[in-house]
Amino acid sequence: MRLEKYIATSGIGSRRAVKKSIRAGLVTVNGETILVPGHPIDVGTDTVVFDGKLVEPLTEHLYLMVNKPSGYVTTRRDERGRSTVMSLVADLPDSIYPVGRLDLETEGLLLFTNDGDFAYRLLHPSYEVEKTYLVWVKGIPNDTAVQRLRQGVTIPSGKTAPAKVKRLKTSRGEASTQFEVVIHEGKKRQVRLMFKAVGHRVIRLKRTRIGNLCLGGLPQGQYRFLTASEITALMEL
Ligand code: URA
Repeated sequence: MRLEKYIATSGIGSRRAVKKSIRAGLVTVNGETILVPGHPIDVGTDTVVFDGKLVEPLTEHLYLMVNKPSGYVTTRRDERGRSTVMSLVADLPDSIYPVGRLDLETEGLLLFTNDGDFAYRLLHPSYEVEKTYLVWVKGIPNDTAVQRLRQGVTIPSGKTAPAKVKRLKTSRGEASTQFEVVIHEGKKRQVRLMFKAVGHRVIRLKRTRIGNLCLGGLPQGQYRFLTASEITALMEL
């Protein structure tokens, strides 16, 4: 790429202004002052400095949600050859990665981005982003068990923070009960371990919301890009 284009597309200024600065000797490439605007740049290899500051090429930031089916590992590559969530976004640039993780068997809302700040804000416990899960458990937990889940229970990684737990319905034949659970932590296998702590096994788990973002009617295995207002709202949480 031409030097003046490389600098201008980094958002530093117009191509005309950049050309002038190059001719004025304000730009170095790999430590050497370059006075020719059309000097070829090897993007990703050459180090370009403009007026003492490193010029970084603008990469397009991507933000999307996937409706993860059960049976996909949340990792970029799996040594055991299992299907990974990356195969659900295989037609997109490989700069994107999943934000956080869902267990192999967990379904539902999983975000992907290549914006490190965005991922950090969503994952860092201090931001306490709420996540909603639909949970199907074996049997019928009694009200004492539900109350304990609401107050916090002890799991191997520590005590869970208070959670919102709503009983939705019990299946015909009373084999299973469905709950809606809202938590703002991300301990490993947290929802499964919370119910295990009160004596009930989770048989199906689906994340339906992260912050302001709902899975809605996105079909299983599909992705969609977030809208500008969805991205802004998540960044302001
Ligand atoms: N809690 C779990 O137990 N598993 C998940 O995948 C997410 C939350």
